[in-house]
Amino acid sequence: MSPTQPAAVIVLAAGEGTRMKSRTPKVLHRIGGRSLLGHALTAARGLAPARLAVVVRHGRDAVAAHAREVDPGVMIVDQDAVPGTGRAVQVALGALDAVTLGAAVAGHQGPGVPDHSAEPPVLSGAVVVMAGDTPLLDADTLGELLRAHTEDANAVTVLTTTVEDPYGYGRILREEGTGAVVGVVEERDATDAQREIREINTSTYVFDAAVLREALGGVGRANDQGEVYLTDVVALAHGKGLRVQAISVEDSWLVEGVNDRAQLAALGVELNRRTVEEWMRAGVTVVDPATTWVDVDVELARDVTLLPGTQLHGSTTVGEGSTLGPETTLTDVTVGAGATVCRTHGSSAVLEDGVDVGPFAYLRPGTHLASGGKIGTFVEVKNARIGAGAKVPHLTYVGDADIGEGTNIGASSVFVNYDGVEKHRTRIGAHARTGSDNMFVAPVTVGDGAYTGAGTTVREDVPPGALSVTGASQRIIEGWVFRRRPGTAAARAAARALGMSEADADAGVAPGGLSPQARAERARRAQGSSTTPRDRTAPGNSAEGDSVR
Ligand code: UD1
Ligand code: CA
Repeated sequence: MSPTQPAAVIVLAAGEGTRMKSRTPKVLHRIGGRSLLGHALTAARGLAPARLAVVVRHGRDAVAAHAREVDPGVMIVDQDAVPGTGRAVQVALGALDAVTLGAAVAGHQGPGVPDHSAEPPVLSGAVVVMAGDTPLLDADTLGELLRAHTEDANAVTVLTTTVEDPYGYGRILREEGTGAVVGVVEERDATDAQREIREINTSTYVFDAAVLREALGGVGRANDQGEVYLTDVVALAHGKGLRVQAISVEDSWLVEGVNDRAQLAALGVELNRRTVEEWMRAGVTVVDPATTWVDVDVELARDVTLLPGTQLHGSTTVGEGSTLGPETTLTDVTVGAGATVCRTHGSSAVLEDGVDVGPFAYLRPGTHLASGGKIGTFVEVKNARIGAGAKVPHLTYVGDADIGEGTNIGASSVFVNYDGVEKHRTRIGAHARTGSDNMFVAPVTVGDGAYTGAGTTVREDVPPGALSVTGASQRIIEGWVFRRRPGTAAARAAARALGMSEADADAGVAPGGLSPQARAERARRAQGSSTTPRDRTAPGNSAEGDSVR
């Protein structure tokens, strides 16, 4: 273990977080695409500790499951009914001692276990304690604290900061003259004079394990909240003449905790400001940092341009020279180099180099657009592979499909993938040209280089090189509107266009009256020879009694 590698990090996450007023445990609320606990665990893991313990109680199962998901190596420790940060650390230390002993018994050389000792082995060395609700605290700051602790051979090293408004925080008590840290007093236990102190406890410490173990044994609950205060360890250690040091961090954002949703938002904005600034320094153009949101795990290459209103979430990565936005939200999307993605909402999609997407595209999971391809305006794509250079430019739904390279899908087409029970796949070959307003009724295949006419409903496979058109020819039913929709705005407009009087139009008289066939049909019906009653107003049956050409 290097001197700056702690024997353990203990992350405190058992508190209730009452002021969040949420069903979700406080440490599971998120900023920058990561839970508060996720931020804490990432920083903690950055120290490469031998063991990493998370203390849980409120929302226990959800918090424990999330902690394991973020970091499968964590040790979950359950706090009992005794409240307070001191109790939380005490149970964690007990659990760490137990695993240390267990490792020694099993014949393994556990962390911090002395080589030859008559004493039962317990955890020894530096123990970092931090709160699970301080999302901007990073491994660098923790590392500096640990280095000071080790180099100065401290028993206790506490991270502090000085703030304008210290209300609610524990205040750092220093000895007059020497400035030595003598203790921490909580807001509610403080005197008026102590409340004037603006140097506060950040709830981040390094302790020598043995000192911590012994001091916690002596911490009572004689305070305003009746809790076991971890902060009391500071005074106890000082009282024993042990070295207690405070390391002050100038940048207070780094150590600010989240207690309510206003702080959650403020820290979220600040984290984002820092993330975006880092990317700008790394060669990314951000036109409007205030409306650009980039999660901490997003990766951007040089010369990426983010236009206003762009939000990049999760594991999204963007290749060199691509332009995203304005108003684009991508979650877990891989974007290649030289791509343009405009006014697009996408998740779990892959966009290769040089693609052109949007404006107004909706990319659902499983969308894969190969290099140079296009997904245009008012196009929704789901679980579909669109080949290199292929284009789906306008007003189209592509679901469960493979589209070959160089193919063009006509405007306003639907990949009819759902039969009401199951989803089916459509395969369209390379360099095909499908007409506008096509329905691809899956499962169906259109071969390489095939064409389809406008308005084709493709139910049967189309062989390579064929043209497919839908059979029914267009019919014209003269005067239908006058007879079936008399008195409507449509009838009057048609009447004006044909130079008829509006009275004729309203009376339902078509130009030229009824055809002889229509008259005959009416007569037959009047004699009762027609046996099948029909919906005579539905346009689908309108040929009845009408003149068709
Ligand atoms: C604590 C410190 C205070 C410091 C402040 C910084 C104590 C007594 N006070 O006060 O000096 O200025 O943090 O934000 O330590 N937790 C548990 N188990 C518990 C209680 C809390 O695990 O029984 C966890 C919480 O989940 C949280 C952290 O400890 O992550 C701090 O708890 P919180 O209740 O927020 O402490 P504060 O009153 O803010
Ligand atoms: Ca707090």
